[in-house]
Amino acid sequence: LNVSQSYRTAYHFQPTKNWMNDPNGPMYYKGVYHFFYQHNPYGPLWGNMSWAHAISHDLINWVHLDIALVPNEPYDINGCFSGSTTILPNGEPAILYTGVDANLHQVQNLAFPKNISDPLLNEWVKWPLNPILSPPDEIDPSFYRDPSTGWMGADGEWRVVIGTRIDHQGAAILYKSKDFRSWNRSLSPLHLSNITTFWECPDFYPVMRNGKSGLDTSVTSVQGKDIRHVLKASFNYQDYYILGKYDPLSDRYDVDADFMKSKGWLRYDYGRFYASKSFYDGEKKRRILWSWVCEGDTAPDAIEKGWSGLQTIPRSIWLSKNEDQLVQWPVKELEKLRTRKVHLENKKLKGGSMIEISGITASQADVEITFSFSNLKHAEVLSAEVVDPQILCTQKNATTDGKFGPFGLLVLASKDLTEHTAVFFRVFRIANSFRVLMCADTSRSSLKPFIDKPIYGAFLALDPRYAKISLRTLIDHSIVESFGGEGLACITSRVYPVLAVGEQAHLYAFNNGTQSLSISSLSAWSMKKAQIV
Ligand code: FRU
Repeated sequence: LNVSQSYRTAYHFQPTKNWMNDPNGPMYYKGVYHFFYQHNPYGPLWGNMSWAHAISHDLINWVHLDIALVPNEPYDINGCFSGSTTILPNGEPAILYTGVDANLHQVQNLAFPKNISDPLLNEWVKWPLNPILSPPDEIDPSFYRDPSTGWMGADGEWRVVIGTRIDHQGAAILYKSKDFRSWNRSLSPLHLSNITTFWECPDFYPVMRNGKSGLDTSVTSVQGKDIRHVLKASFNYQDYYILGKYDPLSDRYDVDADFMKSKGWLRYDYGRFYASKSFYDGEKKRRILWSWVCEGDTAPDAIEKGWSGLQTIPRSIWLSKNEDQLVQWPVKELEKLRTRKVHLENKKLKGGSMIEISGITASQADVEITFSFSNLKHAEVLSAEVVDPQILCTQKNATTDGKFGPFGLLVLASKDLTEHTAVFFRVFRIANSFRVLMCADTSRSSLKPFIDKPIYGAFLALDPRYAKISLRTLIDHSIVESFGGEGLACITSRVYPVLAVGEQAHLYAFNNGTQSLSISSLSAWSMKKAQIV
């Protein structure tokens, strides 16, 4: 087996070869899910940015179609960069995307389906009046990109935001239009933030205050006291979001806390995850999130593999019960790929012990595990000053023993454990409350040189006295996507084992703390290969 070929995934979305980055314009249209993405049709490294296109009936099995947009006009000759789709009132979908023009200026362009009655929307035609927007004078033309999906304001006019920077601050500038073709800039941006410098791929959408249902942004009814609004921006290689109250008449957006402020450390995923985009699925009335997961290997590795970049499994996304963060869960359809299953219940996991979960294909699996303790009296004390969970996971990695934890899973592990990726928890006490730390440690994931092997961390906003600590992990050859506390914190990693490959990969549950705990339940499935043709 050529090890570099073992990194291709079985059930995550990928093109047959070459480079992929941002998800672009996902939508549900006439019974079909459409997915576009930043793609280099000519090689495994970034370049020749085009919009590749695939369709699906279930978000898991895909058919690749012709490339929808290629850089061939003066207004996009240096790249068809990221953008979004919006379904207009007459039912026609529009692509709004950034073109990099002949002067290397970023401009905004439109494209429409050639034949609206073709549900596959195989061919797209660029609007003859492109570009429809060019950078205003005070905006740097190389920081003006990634238009969002349009939403309808209370006055019946469309709005979109574009990522930029204003006076060295990250910003989402707002534009309004009556017909989606001619646009006026609003006096004030939707939001800007002086702790950040430049935003890519802004996303703005409503969420319900109770329940998991998604909301459609193309209707004016999306307002009122039971609705909050999410603004996501991509910067510092990460996707941050904030929550707030949006007034669809004045376009005022009052945020609970700004990006990177106390509560504002909120991220969709605390691992490798960038340039995400959400869309409303009108069929199942849910909001779905897609994200690019870049490689952690090198350019020569990409050339050897012949490809670069993955997408996460599409995730349903909704507001938590406490209304202070979002919750994510892999779309239900993924469960159709579950096959051979192992299950156990109420299994004691003594301090310093480990059990192998055998009987499934550990390199291509879906695992759900729930832990419980008798009491947390002896939890390690954490001083309230330690606020950065990533640093905490690095200091207290999977081999540093504690009291309650580290406990969790060792995935893509070689038999002798030389290689493994640890996804685990630790429970700390701060004064009279408890803090649950979730970590993904890839530092021993591969013997291969020159691989980026970070240790990621997040706090899990649950009280371990009342809620069980659970973990769902999707393992797919070179990607490990983990959901802690039923989706309260997510951590995605890329790993490149050379021993723990295919049938040689093992899966373990472990407890390196001194205190015993129980696995209340564990279900693990081998996963079938998705059909991506
Ligand atoms: C984010 C990004 C976008 C841009 C695209 C180009 O990863 O830099 O801002 O539109 O990628 O491929």
